[in-house]
Amino acid sequence: MSRIAFRDVTKRFGDVVAVRDFNLEIEDQEFLVLLGPSGCGKSTALRLVAGLEEPTSGEIMFGDVAVTDVEAKNRDIAMVFQSYALYPHMTVRRNIEFPLRTRKIPRAERVRLVAEAARWLGLEELLERRPSELSGGQRQRVALGRAIVRRPQAFLMDEPLSNLDAKLRVKTRAELVELHRQLSRTFVYVTHDQVEAMTMADRIAIMNEGALQQIGPPQQVYERPANTFVAQFIGSPPMNVVRATVAHGGDGLVANVPGGTIPLPPAAAAAAAAMNLDGLLVGVRPEHLLLDGGPVKATVRLVESLGHERHVICDLSPEEFAIVRLPADVPPPAKGETVGLTATAEHVHLFDPNTTLRID
Ligand SMILES: Nc1ncnc2c1ncn2[C@@H]1O[C@H](COP(=O)(O)OP(=O)(O)O)[C@@H](O)[C@H]1O
Ligand SMILES: [Mg+2]
Repeated sequence: MSRIAFRDVTKRFGDVVAVRDFNLEIEDQEFLVLLGPSGCGKSTALRLVAGLEEPTSGEIMFGDVAVTDVEAKNRDIAMVFQSYALYPHMTVRRNIEFPLRTRKIPRAERVRLVAEAARWLGLEELLERRPSELSGGQRQRVALGRAIVRRPQAFLMDEPLSNLDAKLRVKTRAELVELHRQLSRTFVYVTHDQVEAMTMADRIAIMNEGALQQIGPPQQVYERPANTFVAQFIGSPPMNVVRATVAHGGDGLVANVPGGTIPLPPAAAAAAAAMNLDGLLVGVRPEHLLLDGGPVKATVRLVESLGHERHVICDLSPEEFAIVRLPADVPPPAKGETVGLTATAEHVHLFDPNTTLRID
């Protein structure tokens, strides 16, 4: 099949534009994660690839062929959902085997494929059980097994780990990455969980309100978010973004933020100055904001302890605040204390307040 592509795809449901002017190419054998908040159109995008929805305009391409008119069952893809939808009266073996039976695959081949899927998914001991005798994680594995046996060209997964507890999610995440490697197939994986996206994806495509915001490898998206939405959706706690004005400081351009000034990366600052903007949005990640008595004065509103680290929420002004991420072994400031913050220029992101786009 090679690539899967969206070409100028829009999908409307009445007045709702679920997917808007979507252009995206998914490489053959890529693990692509579609990431975004609830309601942003992720499932609709995936269902368009599956053939479960028809675009209002535009085309879905598999390789060089438009498949917009090809029925779902003829698209050679498998879909795995959050709800497992297993047949309750069938054993695990029969559930996994089901798509092979409907395709009239000979028995010996069915046995071989089911055994192989069971081995990959650690289901060998459970083949004679019924779904009601399985945990949530095991049921999700059976659903995966049922998808795998057909060896489709692509796997489409819609929040498949949402029903699992946190520990199992972490384990299954790693297993899905390994499965992707072994199967050598394209995976398109939908989630609202940025940690899943960061840990599993070759590339992340971030959506908001039906529109693609940015696509790139996880680290690139983290380090160079294309706009304030991406900056604040990826990373936890989110990037601090405050309003600022640009001024000339000692060593070049600085940003006046509530509470003080911070240095700016020279190239981006020059670009921002040339745009003649009325103000700027300045972003700094919580791990890049230092509580070291620096030039930006703030008042500690709250200290949250997470065990391995603390989040210090600092008021810069009545309207603006910033979160500092502090290692657990650093003594935290007291609530109400006045502190001084530092951000180094290399870790400062600039955004256009009119468009919210990154300025480089
Ligand atoms: N069948 C449908 N009929 C009407 N509206 C729909 C339908 N499916 C999705 N939507 C709307 O489209 C938008 C995107 O939904 P969805 O793709 O399910 O988002 P996500 O998976 O990101 O949570 C939402 O506003 C949703 O209410
Ligand atoms: Mg969804």
